[in-house]
Amino acid sequence: MSIPTHGKYEWLPILYDFVVTLEPKKIIEFGPGRGYTTIAMAKALDENNIDGHINSYDIWDDKYWGGHNIAQAEFDAWSVANYITLKRCDFYEWIEDGCEDFDFLYFDINNTAEKIEILYESVKNQIAEGSVVFFEGGSKERDSYGHNGGSMYDIKDKVGYKILTGNVKYSASAIYNPKMYDLDFS
Ligand SMILES: C[S@@+](CC[C@H](N)C(=O)[O-])C[C@H]1O[C@@H](n2cnc3c(N)ncnc32)[C@H](O)[C@@H]1O
Repeated sequence: MSIPTHGKYEWLPILYDFVVTLEPKKIIEFGPGRGYTTIAMAKALDENNIDGHINSYDIWDDKYWGGHNIAQAEFDAWSVANYITLKRCDFYEWIEDGCEDFDFLYFDINNTAEKIEILYESVKNQIAEGSVVFFEGGSKERDSYGHNGGSMYDIKDKVGYKILTGNVKYSASAIYNPKMYDLDFS
């Protein structure tokens, strides 16, 4: 496994393992920022001969997280550009346009409980049929940061998400149909 060292997201190997296990053909990502999460997923495709592609969407509203050219340069440097279509696309417009189908969706747009609930309500039919959502956050500790939009932990049972990391700030969680998968890599 050859993936970037993120500095914050110690769970990038879990994201990689999800892609290896699920072998998704169509991956959607919201919030690549400068592209490290995208690269982890693309490397999972590349190193395991998985015939998948990533549509990666961001609005780059905050320079801290990079920009289109910075992310594209990272994809080139990691030799994964051919696995990724990087576009400006707003999550809320994507919802209004009816949510395209996906096998695997990675969600990371300065997450709040409100955003996770909007995502879940919009794609729950796809999840019931086997699509999997992986998102940044979900731990109790995460609620101490970026709190506006309510507590993520309080909607855990309603959304049915599973926490994949310890109780740390930079946690990660997944939503999937438990009758179809047993996805525990912790
Ligand atoms: C926490 S950063 C992503 C970190 C990144 N995944 C990494 O590997 O470091 C959040 C990103 O979400 C983007 N974003 C915020 N609101 C968005 C929206 N409504 N639609 C799409 N992207 C959004 C921001 O521009 C930013 O790049």
